[in-house]
Amino acid sequence: MENLNKFPAVVAVDVRYRDLDTFNHVNNAVYLTYFEQARVRYFRSLGWRSNDASVVVARAEVNYRKPIVLGDEVRVGCRVAAIGHRSYVMEYLLLAGGEPAADGQTVQVFLRSGKPDQLPNELVEKILSIEAAVGNTPTSKA
Ligand SMILES: CC(C)(COP(=O)(O)OP(=O)(O)OC[C@H]1O[C@@H](n2cnc3c(N)ncnc32)[C@H](O)[C@@H]1OP(=O)(O)O)[C@@H](O)C(=O)NCCC(=O)NCCS
Repeated sequence: MENLNKFPAVVAVDVRYRDLDTFNHVNNAVYLTYFEQARVRYFRSLGWRSNDASVVVARAEVNYRKPIVLGDEVRVGCRVAAIGHRSYVMEYLLLAGGEPAADGQTVQVFLRSGKPDQLPNELVEKILSIEAAVGNTPTSKA
């Protein structure tokens, strides 16, 4: 059974009326916003800050597995699955009413002064630490 036990960051998401499309289910584009809420929670939980660094999304992928409707209890988990030199891969699992409704991945690229740059050791250590706390070991990003 798929669950959120091995996701260091989990958020509960309120489905808003405006998230629905003409088919009365959550529109496909909105799922990335739900993933983003979990990603922001993850990054905040790292407690890492820098004045001249930022992280951008280079790639996003969503598998839509079950429609989400108004009133569903939605929870999204986020974890780092792989770490590269200047980038890392995050994985997401979205449950609606306890059932998998979507999963996906994003790739984040670390920027310093606006250009891709080596992930700082301190940031990597923090990621490895919160992943280890739930029994995960991120792989090396290909
Ligand atoms: C993402 C961006 C910075 C990459 O710039 P780039 O010069 O192509 O990056 P590089 O070729 O130097 O690659 C840097 C790292 O990112 C990874 N990367 C870049 N684009 C990628 C993609 N589409 N998918 C997976 N990894 C990617 C590379 O594999 C490399 O990883 P590594 O160093 O860990 O091995 C650039 O394309 C960009 O600014 N895109 C727009 C981002 C954006 O606006 N996002 C939406 C708002 S957040």
